[in-house]
Amino acid sequence: MITSDINLAIESLKKGNVIAIPTETVYGLAGNAFEESSVNKIFKIKNRPSFNPLIVHVPNPKYINKIAQNIPKIAQKLSKHFWPGPLTLVLEKQKHISDIVTAGKSTVAVRVPNHKLTLDLLSKLPFPLVAPSANPFGFTSSTSADHVIEYFADKIDLILDGGVSLKGIESTIIGFENDNAVLYRHGSIPIEEIEKIIGKVEIKNKNNLSPEAPGMLKRHYAPKTKIVFSNDFIKSIKSYPNKKIGILCLKKIKKIPKSVHQEVLSSDGNLNEAAKNLYASLHKLDRLNLDLILTSIVPEYELGRSINDRLRRAVEVEN
Ligand code: TXA
Ligand code: MG
Repeated sequence: MITSDINLAIESLKKGNVIAIPTETVYGLAGNAFEESSVNKIFKIKNRPSFNPLIVHVPNPKYINKIAQNIPKIAQKLSKHFWPGPLTLVLEKQKHISDIVTAGKSTVAVRVPNHKLTLDLLSKLPFPLVAPSANPFGFTSSTSADHVIEYFADKIDLILDGGVSLKGIESTIIGFENDNAVLYRHGSIPIEEIEKIIGKVEIKNKNNLSPEAPGMLKRHYAPKTKIVFSNDFIKSIKSYPNKKIGILCLKKIKKIPKSVHQEVLSSDGNLNEAAKNLYASLHKLDRLNLDLILTSIVPEYELGRSINDRLRRAVEVEN
């Protein structure tokens, strides 16, 4: 069922079901964070490895004291500045938080999402929600109810439709090591914005998965269609004469043959707009039954870093 009635969502979640919820970043597959059977359902539906922990979504900054403890001062400063918003903080967990949520870690990821419908929902629920991005593990995230339907129509109870996600890329994840802030995932808040508030942040964005599983994450955020980088689109197109090709690019490229579908992220090269459109463009290209998608990285600053991070993980690397 697709609805924007949060009462139906509350009813379903209270029964232990998994539903899709809108956030400002991407849609999430949500369940009761305090109910292990609901959390397990999410892992199963997503086909997500159990060593990859989930983010707990809470209705307001104060609520984190029910989830986490010994919260560093800089974490409090960040939460004051960015919540509700696309920032996830990794903090020391409270004992009662399930090992299934945190994948056995002593830390827990928490955020207050900035979406009216979902904030309303969270504030009326007697429990917080765990919500990984609403996509099967490894595939492109969902930024609209349509994307969620394509992936999970027959697998989840309800989709709470809150329109198109305004940011379009996941939250930025910050952890604390010896009370210093560390960036674990580039996201919708550029690192430059975070450094304005707390100073230099170390970047440890190599791989969000635990080191116990090296190489498991060959591809992530990926469309079903093969996608590769190209430094020269015209030349690349010529080198695949019999293939149906699409291009994913920041700004319009001139002299591309009409037979090649060109998906432009932002007509004037605006990185915020490009981030918002990135996953929707990948979904669109995926529907065209192409043999191949060509893309290239965007300028490496502000949200460009987050876009490039997703593109680098989405492309197929020959090895
Ligand atoms: O924008 C978002 O964050 C979206 C929306 C739905 O809120 N959610 C999302 O969840 O992106 P997911 O599960 O797709 O990504 C969560 C990331 C994973 O890379 C996971 O490894 C990391 O958060 N994570 C969760 N708990 C962690 C922890 N205790 N330490 C380090 N990383 C953690
Ligand atoms: Mg994800």
